[in-house]
Amino acid sequence: MANAYQPLTPSGKGARIGDRRVTDFSVAEIRDLLARHDWLAFEDHPVTTDEVVEFMGRFGTLVHNDRRQGAVLNIDASKKDEGEVLLGEGFLPLHRDGALMGTNIALVGIFCVEYKNVTGGGRTFISDIDNACKDVPAEILDVIRDKGIEGRPVDRYYLKPSDTWHWIPGFAEVDGHSYLNVGFPYRPGEQASWLLRIPGVDDDRCQEMFETMRAILMSERYCYYHEWDEGDLLLLDNRRLLHGREAFKGQRALANLQVLAA
Ligand SMILES: [Fe+2]
Repeated sequence: MANAYQPLTPSGKGARIGDRRVTDFSVAEIRDLLARHDWLAFEDHPVTTDEVVEFMGRFGTLVHNDRRQGAVLNIDASKKDEGEVLLGEGFLPLHRDGALMGTNIALVGIFCVEYKNVTGGGRTFISDIDNACKDVPAEILDVIRDKGIEGRPVDRYYLKPSDTWHWIPGFAEVDGHSYLNVGFPYRPGEQASWLLRIPGVDDDRCQEMFETMRAILMSERYCYYHEWDEGDLLLLDNRRLLHGREAFKGQRALANLQVLAA
């Protein structure tokens, strides 16, 4: 049965699951599907936030912190405070959850609580970085591998917005395979949740490198753009892909849950 799901990118990653409720799957089945597809989009069989919390708790320790209610981070633009970008309506560049918090997160669940009158985008996007990187010029990947990146959280969302830059390795090993480990910088004119730089590389060259990578990683060949319906759930193998959000206007409330790496 697990082979029956169609991939969500032409490069062959992701799977849309519309034949069963997520809660009908065993932990072993989900782990097997994630190993095969990297991310799963559950549609057409709405579940509740409580069901998602209970279900995801079966996969390990759920992240709790001051920004969450229990294990749930509510991403509801209508309730955000001034100065919070991540919880707002703006564009969110490709990133890996937890990187700037120094938290190693294996599994991310994004659940759609409310989706009404949304215009101008609002899709969550997921990039198959493993295949996309094969199209990225080697000299760019070499710089990132050699130097890593430095990030600085500036959003009110972060528990500790910072004046100092945190170094992050440009690639990370997951089960013996190396995956691009960067977040992407905001473009000029976008309100930033974080700042990024490559040590020893000037800003113009850095932006240029990320623009080249962005065009490839966000292209239709490698990137899946999820159109939300209430009750949908995305399960992401956080370390094997990067994800982000389109800017939008309207009532869009998502819940984010994170399972720590063992
Ligand atoms: Fe995220």
